[in-house]
Amino acid sequence: MNILLTGGAGYIGSHTAVELLEAGHRVITADNYSNSSPEALERVERITGRHVTAYDIDITNTDRLCDIFAHEEIDAAVHFAGLKAVGESVKDPLRYYRNNLDGTISLLEAMKLYGVKRLIFSSSATVYGTPEKLPFTEDMKLGPCTNPYGWTKLMSERIITDYAASDPEFSAILLRYFNPVGAHPSGLIGEDPKDIPNNLMPYISQVASGRLDKLHVFGNDYPTKDGTGVRDYIHVVDLARGHRAALEYCAEHKGVQAVNLGTGVGYSVLEMVKTFAAVSGIDIPYQIEGRRDGDIAESYGDPSKALELFGWRAGLGPEDMCRDTWNWQKNNPNGYDG
Ligand code: NAD
Ligand code: UFG
Repeated sequence: MNILLTGGAGYIGSHTAVELLEAGHRVITADNYSNSSPEALERVERITGRHVTAYDIDITNTDRLCDIFAHEEIDAAVHFAGLKAVGESVKDPLRYYRNNLDGTISLLEAMKLYGVKRLIFSSSATVYGTPEKLPFTEDMKLGPCTNPYGWTKLMSERIITDYAASDPEFSAILLRYFNPVGAHPSGLIGEDPKDIPNNLMPYISQVASGRLDKLHVFGNDYPTKDGTGVRDYIHVVDLARGHRAALEYCAEHKGVQAVNLGTGVGYSVLEMVKTFAAVSGIDIPYQIEGRRDGDIAESYGDPSKALELFGWRAGLGPEDMCRDTWNWQKNNPNGYDG
């Protein structure tokens, strides 16, 4: 298949590009590099020995997006492009609504015009809002979301669902990721936050490399196993495989399905710190702080629908996640900037 990856140069997009190229698909990316580097795609080519057709465009520009559809015979799209920093979305909500919602609508318009009927969307467990019970299952009520970023995901799910209802031939999978972490085992691609990381794993790895002096643990008074926040961390390579499986399912089925991509198991902040220290051999100094606004105590999903629908389950555990994060960080202390 010829597969368009919007946001294909980003963290999850680049890992998915590797997976799709290795499965024999052709990959076309549309990215404005607002949170990524073209270097990531060169490294994808190095890992796979295959070519990536890369377009430098803002996908909210529908005319430019349509040019891609006019030149490439696109069979399916995977929609990663979006802004994703929760705190930033609270400070600058209009930028988030403009970019993330326009991006989704623009892509659907281009797909409609060119008769492309298969879409995989990067959604998030954040659409579930604060849990009434765990694990999260796809049939649970959604929202209210705790920040504008989350609302853009929930609204994009709605937009895609409404569009699909207008075209009985359309097929979409809304993949609700839990907490993607880790990196490709080659150490050539990984997560490259532009500023001080917001998320736990990149923060820990920058402490390990000496770029940051200690981890701030946001709260140790949650009703969890050790008082620190619990999350369903999922290795980005498992996540990439999930996209490939979803695309294959999409080719055979019509309609919309929301599907969790997680391991189904939650680990605490301190468990991740200990695992990282054990696999890297480096002590991670940390300090307990107050809770971070908007955080929930625990989040983990039931991943059984992905297994039932398209035979996917996560195979990698916390040791793999920490080992590969560290391998990426130590080989690329300044990310793609060398
Ligand atoms: P990322 O920032 O690394 O990748 C997103 C890519 O989209 C970047 O390359 C960025 O340059 C590009 N982009 C943004 N707006 C664009 C636009 N208007 N036009 C063209 N390109 C644009 O993020 P990621 O971690 O790879 O996440 C991919 C998707 O998965 C995002 O939609 C994100 O919201 C979603 N998601 C991520 C996580 C996570 O923790 N990483 C969790 C749940 C969902
Ligand atoms: N944490 C710390 N210190 C840090 C960073 C995080 O203690 O420096 C803790 C958090 O309080 C939380 C856990 O580590 O308990 C995980 O935090 P992350 O920021 O790594 O991840 P979140 O679960 O908060 O958010 C992630 C994505 C969101 C997405 C959400 C649900 O960043 O985009 O998962 O899918 F919406």
